Amino acid sequence: MNVLLTGGAGYIGSHTALELLRAGHDVVIADDFSNSSESSVRAIEKETGKKVRLYACDVSDALKCKMIFEENKFDAVIHFAGYKAVGESVAKPLMYFRNNFLSAIAVLESMLEHGVNLFVFSSSATVYGTCQDMPLVESSSLGVTSPYGRTKLVIEQMCEDVCKANPDFKAVMLRYFNPIGADASLAVGENPKGIPNNLMPYLCKVASGELDHLSVFGKDYDTPDGTCIRDFIHISDLASGHMAAVEKSGSLPKGISCFNLGTGKGTSVDELVSIFNSVNGNKVKFVYAGRRPGDVPVSYADVSKANEVLGWKASHSLEDACATAYAYQMKCSEGRH
Ligand code: WQD
Repeated sequence: MNVLLTGGAGYIGSHTALELLRAGHDVVIADDFSNSSESSVRAIEKETGKKVRLYACDVSDALKCKMIFEENKFDAVIHFAGYKAVGESVAKPLMYFRNNFLSAIAVLESMLEHGVNLFVFSSSATVYGTCQDMPLVESSSLGVTSPYGRTKLVIEQMCEDVCKANPDFKAVMLRYFNPIGADASLAVGENPKGIPNNLMPYLCKVASGELDHLSVFGKDYDTPDGTCIRDFIHISDLASGHMAAVEKSGSLPKGISCFNLGTGKGTSVDELVSIFNSVNGNKVKFVYAGRRPGDVPVSYADVSKANEVLGWKASHSLEDACATAYAYQMKCSEGRH
């Protein structure tokens, strides 16, 4: 299949590109490099020995987006492009609404115009809002806890309407839990610009000496060790989930389908830090700090739907995720000094 990956140079997009190319699919990437770089695309090409057609542009620019569809024939689009920092979205909601909504609209319009009927969307477990019934199933109640989360939820709803109006259209919402780690080749990985917001990249930068210590946000939650619980999933598993969605799309019903992509297992922040230390031979300096506003105490997935319908299941360990995340961080740090 020939698949357009918007935001394909980013953390999740680049790993998905690797999986698709390794499986023999063709990939076109459109990315404005606002939170990624062209070097990831070159690394993907080097690792797979395959050429990737690259458009260095912002797909929320409808004219540029149309041009991509005029110059290629796609079987599917995986839409990763979008801003993703929760805290930043609270400070700059309109920036998030403009970018995330306009890019989704431009891509969907171009797809309809060119008869491309499979849209896979980079959604998030954040669409479950403050729902406390664990594990989260696709039919759990939905809600919004940040402008970022609102963009994910509203784009899911937009897709539902687009499907109703276009009976041949299929939209697959992939609700990610907490992706961590890097591809075994270390060709690509996670190395956010600036101070990381998410736990694993922060942990890696403390371990590599770039940051002094980790603040563990909250030790007084109603969980066994008092820290939050999340469903951390290896990025390579998340990437293979996208491939399963594309490859199994023929058997999906027309209209919208939603899938959780997680492991089904909750791990606390304290547990993750100790796995990281034992795998990497580190003793990461950390302090317990107050709760971070907006954090839900516990979040983990029921993954039976993706398992049954897509034939997909996470298989990599958290040990592997911690080892590759840190190895990729060290590779980047060495490159810089
Ligand atoms: C995990 C746990 C923190 C940093 C977010 C988005 C989600 C998705 C992934 C986008 C929490 C704790 C974190 C730190 C800490 N989207 N933590 N110290 O919040 O579960 O999910 O990222 O990319 O939509 O909401 O992930 O990695 O930020 O936090 O103690 O320095 O680690 O409080 O309990 P989160 P996270």
